Amino acid sequence: MAILVTGGAGYIGSHTCIELLNAGYELVVLDNLVNSKFESVRRVKELTNKEFPFYKVDLLHIDKLEEIFKENTIDAVIHLAGLKAVGESVEQPLFYYHNNITGTLNLCKVMSLYGVKNLVFSSSATVYGLPDSVPITENSPLQAKNPYGQTKLMIEQVLQDLYQSDKEWSISLLRYFNPIGAHESGRLGEDPQGIPNNLMPYITQVAIGKLPELHIFGNNYSTADGTGVRDYIHVVDLAKGHVCALEKVWKTTGVDAFNLGTGKGYSVLEIVQAFEKASGVEIPFRVIGPRPGDIGACYADPIKAKINLGWQAQRGLEEMCRDAWRWQEQNPLGYETNKKDTTLKLDVLL
Ligand code: WQD
Repeated sequence: MAILVTGGAGYIGSHTCIELLNAGYELVVLDNLVNSKFESVRRVKELTNKEFPFYKVDLLHIDKLEEIFKENTIDAVIHLAGLKAVGESVEQPLFYYHNNITGTLNLCKVMSLYGVKNLVFSSSATVYGLPDSVPITENSPLQAKNPYGQTKLMIEQVLQDLYQSDKEWSISLLRYFNPIGAHESGRLGEDPQGIPNNLMPYITQVAIGKLPELHIFGNNYSTADGTGVRDYIHVVDLAKGHVCALEKVWKTTGVDAFNLGTGKGYSVLEIVQAFEKASGVEIPFRVIGPRPGDIGACYADPIKAKINLGWQAQRGLEEMCRDAWRWQEQNPLGYETNKKDTTLKLDVLL
């Protein structure tokens, strides 16, 4: 029983591969390595002492994608591959719609062709846009406010329609809140290209001295301390949620959405304080104006995933901060840090 993980070299993908391998699944991993490094794949193999084929393939190349289904017996797909920078999606909407939506359409076409109808899809809390109220449930209005979030919302609709056309499909839509942290080994973690968009990698790069100070985007939101509140979830808890969702899609048919969050919101200032406590490193910061498109408070009601998937986040903020720091301290240059094998020895080069 092999699981195809698209985007398996990425931050969430690599951690999800670890949990799938630990749960005894056979993997086939695909990634175009545009926003990730093959080194993360090598480290997943190192950490689990398990082997699996890796394909450097872009979902936009449907013929190469089909080769993977020809060469392997795929039983289910965990689909994480996609572009996810909100700001970039506003600047380059056509690129985002084409990459994320066409890539998914290609995947579903090939899955149908090969009779593979079990799918776990990486969706996002950005489908809720500016929530009318918090905590957010899966029945909260879907109102994405940027092209990135729109691609996730449109893909969810595509998958709903696909199921209506063929009731054999079994699909879980996982709406991620804010994943942070890293594998406890310090060997896997978040390795954004260029200046990080997201809060935690920005903080850890300030902590190692790569960036001079954190800019806090606004402190006039209607939150306890005025700074933005989000539902931060340990990436390992998020990864384990994919294993639980996979086990559910085996047993059922239909399409169902689940919030993967902790149900607890923390402000930017609370994250800074928690990180300083966990790392012992002071984080200098300056409050500047709000970031366009930002919202004040966003956190999940995760009860549906607990009831239906038997999943609940286990790791607290201190562990998230401690693991994020260990990764960054041990890998100041991310996956470029002391790579063991500089050649890109791909298992299969298509
Ligand atoms: C968190 C809080 C910022 C950076 C994310 C990602 C995107 C998508 C949706 C997957 C906010 C503040 C941040 C900084 C700051 N994820 N902040 N200074 O905004 O919830 O969006 O989730 O689908 O990957 O965009 O996360 O980490 O960017 O911001 O003050 O340098 O930290 O204003 O309140 P966000 P984030």
